[in-house]
Amino acid sequence: MMCESNPIVQREAARRRTFAIISHPDAGKTTLTEKLLLYGGRVDVAGAVRGRKTQRAATSDWMELERQRGISVSSTVLPFEYRGLQLNLLDTPGHHDFSEDTYRTLMAAECAIMVIDLAKGIEEQTEKLFRVCALRRIPVVTFVNKVDRPGREPLEILAEIEAKLGIAATAQNWPLGTGFDFRGIVELPSQMVHLFEKGSGGHRIPFQSVPLPSLVPNMLAPSTSAPGVAERTSDEVELVASAGEPFDRSRFLAGDLTPVFFGSALTNFGVEHFLERFLCHCPSPGAHACDRGRIPAEHPHFSGFIFKIQANLDPRHRDRVAFVRVCSGRFRREMEVLHVRSGKKLRLTRSHRVFGQERETMDEAFAGDIIGLVNPGEFQLGDTICEGQPFSFEPLPQFSPEYFAILRCTDTARRKQFARGLAQLIEEGAIQQFTDSSAARAEPILAAVGELQFDVVRFRLETEYNTRTQIEWLPYKLARWPRSIEGTSTTIKLPYSAKMVLDQNKGMAILFTSKWDAEYCAREHPGIELCEVRQQSTQDIDRRQPIPMR
Ligand code: G4P
Repeated sequence: MMCESNPIVQREAARRRTFAIISHPDAGKTTLTEKLLLYGGRVDVAGAVRGRKTQRAATSDWMELERQRGISVSSTVLPFEYRGLQLNLLDTPGHHDFSEDTYRTLMAAECAIMVIDLAKGIEEQTEKLFRVCALRRIPVVTFVNKVDRPGREPLEILAEIEAKLGIAATAQNWPLGTGFDFRGIVELPSQMVHLFEKGSGGHRIPFQSVPLPSLVPNMLAPSTSAPGVAERTSDEVELVASAGEPFDRSRFLAGDLTPVFFGSALTNFGVEHFLERFLCHCPSPGAHACDRGRIPAEHPHFSGFIFKIQANLDPRHRDRVAFVRVCSGRFRREMEVLHVRSGKKLRLTRSHRVFGQERETMDEAFAGDIIGLVNPGEFQLGDTICEGQPFSFEPLPQFSPEYFAILRCTDTARRKQFARGLAQLIEEGAIQQFTDSSAARAEPILAAVGELQFDVVRFRLETEYNTRTQIEWLPYKLARWPRSIEGTSTTIKLPYSAKMVLDQNKGMAILFTSKWDAEYCAREHPGIELCEVRQQSTQDIDRRQPIPMR
């Protein structure tokens, strides 16, 4: 039977925008998030999101660890409405030691905002997170923050984005002075200048908009402290217009070009303009690759995949929540879906809309939305649920860990609980496991993207399974998954410090003690590609036709 795409499904998918914000800690991600939520009416007091960093421990008990450290460990969802659009902001933790959870959350996003500090440019974690976006060709919009503070030259930041990240950077606006000289924002290419005056709490309030050619120094208040700003800005804007890359939407959507905005999240200058322009750029939910082709967002049958499983979101119930990214169709509470991996039919009764640490019953959802399914039984990361003909979305990639260790249970009487707890945490994706295939009874090697993941796992083993552990760090620094390049067969000769292992899906992997060793090994074996990420190739899937709506 042919099913027409339902106009409600089409309309609702078209008004959704699902995006994440990536940045190095302290660049201003929390401040910008808070300002975006203020515009969306989801928070009405400044500091509400910032307070989240310390308040979360009150609502989640394994988050006690968060309270002790004063950080947020796991990602969450912040849905809000803005001018008729339903926005789903995927909020990732912003501290120095992030985890694989952050990477996986990006797999559910359609677009990312990259926040950069004007004084610091591209920092280490920004670069790592950008690489994950690039892997999935997630388009990135850049917000250069803190222009109200002395920083680097805006032109230098554009050049750094291009040099370090290898994408074209196209300025969409330009700061009228920076630091103490910051007086407003010039919109490109209309060349309208938005000037501000200082309001309470240091906020900048727009007071006048004029075309750049008619800008005269005495419009800049106070004019005396900003000599030459108007002239210098005109020269820079001219330079950017003549020498900069023109904006090209298809290159942006392919992840080859980033539109760049300047502003100040703290003083709230340029943020609303940024949000409006961002929403013009951010695509609505698109088609998702699966083993049968591509599933368009407006396909009438419901489908989605699990990108995150979180235990103990609510300590009173000791529950687990599977986060589903809806990819097509219409979700209704109580509907029956197929859990493709097990072949079982499931009735989805306990569905929630998550907002930070709060949640409420969710009766309906469309492509782009995130559903929190409580106590979902045997769900695993990457599982597909769907209506109609069964298919599987491509598996979530496994990212190279940077920390490796062996965990041992210190109480021999609790070995069974330890093994059960660890197996559960591995299944949840809290930590990766490798086994040394050469040793008959080798202990599993545990591995994580961030050191903090080990703290979380040990904390949960202790609080949920009552097992204390000891940790022995191993010298490995990265994993690579070897793939033979077509038509070649090579035996790999490893550096003495490297180890051949099997990952948790029985795939072959190599652990290296340094990046240099991995690069050397790759140079010595031109017939083998050493992949930083374990994933099914999407190339073939991408070339196929969309799945017909039947
Ligand atoms: P993060 O989530 O990326 O880690 O950064 P966050 O927003 O927490 O901001 C880090 C610091 O930078 C905060 O200061 C924040 O107030 C400041 N900040 C953010 N945006 C701007 C901006 O546009 N201009 C200026 N001048 N500062 C900005 P803090 O002193 O660490 O915290 P707080 O005492 O302000 O809460």
